[in-house]
Amino acid sequence: MNLIDGKKIATEIKKEIAAEVAVIIKNGGKQPHLAAILVGHDGGSETYVAFKIKDCEEVGFKSSLIRYEDDVTEEELLTKVHELNVDDDLDGFIVQLPLPKHISEQKVIEAINPKKDVDGFHPENVGRMVIGLPSFVSATPFGIIELLKRYNIETSGKNCVVLGRSNIVGRPMSVLMSQKAVNATVTVAHSRTKNLEEVCRNADILIAAIGVPEFVKGNMVKEGAVVIDVGTTRVKSDKTKSGWKLKGDVLFEEVGNKCSYISPVPGGVGPMTRVSLLLNTLLSAKKEIYI
Ligand code: GUN
Repeated sequence: MNLIDGKKIATEIKKEIAAEVAVIIKNGGKQPHLAAILVGHDGGSETYVAFKIKDCEEVGFKSSLIRYEDDVTEEELLTKVHELNVDDDLDGFIVQLPLPKHISEQKVIEAINPKKDVDGFHPENVGRMVIGLPSFVSATPFGIIELLKRYNIETSGKNCVVLGRSNIVGRPMSVLMSQKAVNATVTVAHSRTKNLEEVCRNADILIAAIGVPEFVKGNMVKEGAVVIDVGTTRVKSDKTKSGWKLKGDVLFEEVGNKCSYISPVPGGVGPMTRVSLLLNTLLSAKKEIYI
């Protein structure tokens, strides 16, 4: 079994981005600029946004953090989104999810200017991605495609099973895997799929994005399969300083012995998700998506 080292690849990509930024600035161009809107104090969201800001610093991007308390109104938030939409200095921005229940996430997502939607959540970007037009692709699927490429994993004609159908990961992942550049034969499996174990055992490439820790057991994986673990569930741990650790969707102890490649949790998909947001911001700064 070979480990897919997302941390190492993400570090390489960050160096590539930093080099590009240095060239842009040397040539008198504008420093790429990413903003994040964070509402409330959810522990996970705080951590993710802090990482995004740190990542920007590392590659030489400018970053802005805009914070609101939990009681911000939908109207106030939408006003800020409209303001960022027309801010010429900003190449892209994200609204960290989840939002408090009194705010419609869909309304907020649809208010974002698609040209600055570096999360790739706006229906216009999703639609463009589906029909193969240049688009901002959501960070996790984008990162997984990049991992498969950089590890030279053959995808053409392979059976790919995507476990999970979320708007952020499973569904866009399934579309990307079926596109001409990738050429996999894709099955989207989910909670209502019959004979799930058998369906998964048919996968040459199994992408587990179901959000249930250690859901994928050894008997669900074909010998020699490539297994991508997207799970990031926080579970209590007395072995870490924070009091929790991340668990993937794959039971590594059983599956690791059977597959040819596996992305671990942590250190697999997570770092690639982070770096993909930087890549989207750079693509936006270079005006390479909406020409
Ligand atoms: N919450 C969890 N993942 C994400 C993400 O990729 N983008 C945003 N905006 N919120 C999230």
